[in-house]
Amino acid sequence: MEKKTIFSGIQPSGEPTIGNYIGAIRNWVELQENENYENIYCIVDMHAITVPQVPKDLRRHTLELLSVLMASGLDPEKTTLFIQSHVPAHAELTWVLNTLTYMGQLNRMTQYKDKSKRFEDSSINSGLFTYPVLMAADILLYQADYVPVGEDQRQHLELTRDVAERFNNRYSPTFKLPEALIKEEGARIMSLQDPEAKMSKSDANKDSYLLLLDDPDAIRRKIKRAVTDSVGVVAYNDEQKGIKNLLNIYASFTNEDIGNIVDRYEGKGYGVFKEDLAEVVVEALRPIQERYNDLINNKDYLEKVYKKGAEKAEYMANKTLRKVYKKVGFIPR
Ligand code: AMP
Ligand code: TRP
Repeated sequence: MEKKTIFSGIQPSGEPTIGNYIGAIRNWVELQENENYENIYCIVDMHAITVPQVPKDLRRHTLELLSVLMASGLDPEKTTLFIQSHVPAHAELTWVLNTLTYMGQLNRMTQYKDKSKRFEDSSINSGLFTYPVLMAADILLYQADYVPVGEDQRQHLELTRDVAERFNNRYSPTFKLPEALIKEEGARIMSLQDPEAKMSKSDANKDSYLLLLDDPDAIRRKIKRAVTDSVGVVAYNDEQKGIKNLLNIYASFTNEDIGNIVDRYEGKGYGVFKEDLAEVVVEALRPIQERYNDLINNKDYLEKVYKKGAEKAEYMANKTLRKVYKKVGFIPR
């Protein structure tokens, strides 16, 4: 049986949160261990610059993220790990796909609507608007079958399929139509300060997220401050969104049934539950952080990994790009 291709991307726009880990990275590691899949994971620095970045921070965050991915268990011997800007085909295919994407469709993207709210109309850059087209190019270049993402990316995946289908219809079958792979449970980790909002590394309030590289004291402090409610009973329901989110985090790290956890805290207050949760998170992150510290200090090795990744990715991507250029009527050089 031919292997199915898995592709996903993650932005180096800050330090990764446990939301990124639970919603994305951890699933990627699991997929890597399945021998029916060929895995490709990309650090999307070109997506990151759709919002202002400090260049030296972007460079640092990119290498940090590569180290985090490897520390979390992604193995460059089994999986292709690369940096988006190293493979020019991403920008090149984006241009072609731009000509097949309708403004109206991009206008309906909820992530665009949310992100552009932060800027004056006159300073929304067009990269933010065409962000989903670059994402479509990422995926389609590798003829991916499955794209593991968080729930928030579902709409972008639908756009990717639409654009691919439009290309296939207008020219001839070229792109595989990718499917989103979205895990229901723990799919969305919410802010510790506002359980209605997604936990995000770009949140202005640092107490709202737990970073994968937070030290134990920071983890304990932030969990202690996490917003709960006045009910005072550890229970899993939508009236107690703060506690529900904390239970999701707990269960994600222990792989325990949420019902069991709730039973264990019967008659105990939020304080005890939060203290225990903090220890669960500290212990779960400890081995990742230890491996991270080794990797981040080994720049030569990191360079070897991303260079080899780019070579492998470029070979696959160019195969698709050459077909596309030919079909749209460009003359081969
Ligand atoms: P980003 O940080 O936007 O590049 O997201 C990288 C990956 O992490 C995507 O698959 C997101 O859907 C996922 N992700 C980001 N934040 C969360 C969150 N709070 N909960 C679950 N998944 C998340
Ligand atoms: N837009 C995705 C996010 O914010 C990141 C991303 C870029 C991506 N290109 C991708 C995810 C391709 C999956 C496939 O999470």
